[in-house]
Amino acid sequence: MEKQLTDIGAAADIDPGKFTTVTVGGRGYIVARVEDRFYAVEDNCSHEDYPLSYGCLDGAYIKCSLHGSWFSLESGEPQEPPADEPIATFRVLERDGRLLLDTSQPA
Ligand code: FES
Repeated sequence: MEKQLTDIGAAADIDPGKFTTVTVGGRGYIVARVEDRFYAVEDNCSHEDYPLSYGCLDGAYIKCSLHGSWFSLESGEPQEPPADEPIATFRVLERDGRLLLDTSQPA
């Protein structure tokens, strides 16, 4: 599948330990920075339709604020119940200080 790269802003605009949300093609994504690495996941919990962006980060994990499941930003896998399905993860490339989100397929 061909890459679909979307410029989502400057890398410097996301501080380490923080995330932002972007909408591309009508779909919401979380783009998080952990130290100097960027991650992107769908902004939707796999347990119920609920925005993960209402939650918080701890390292490379994000917590759903509705029922408390944590998800790996790396793999999308839930770390504890009640969620038992992974969330979709996506590639983020950094080029010349810009972040490019690859929405063509989950990473
Ligand atoms: S909606 Fe996220 S853990 Fe239930």
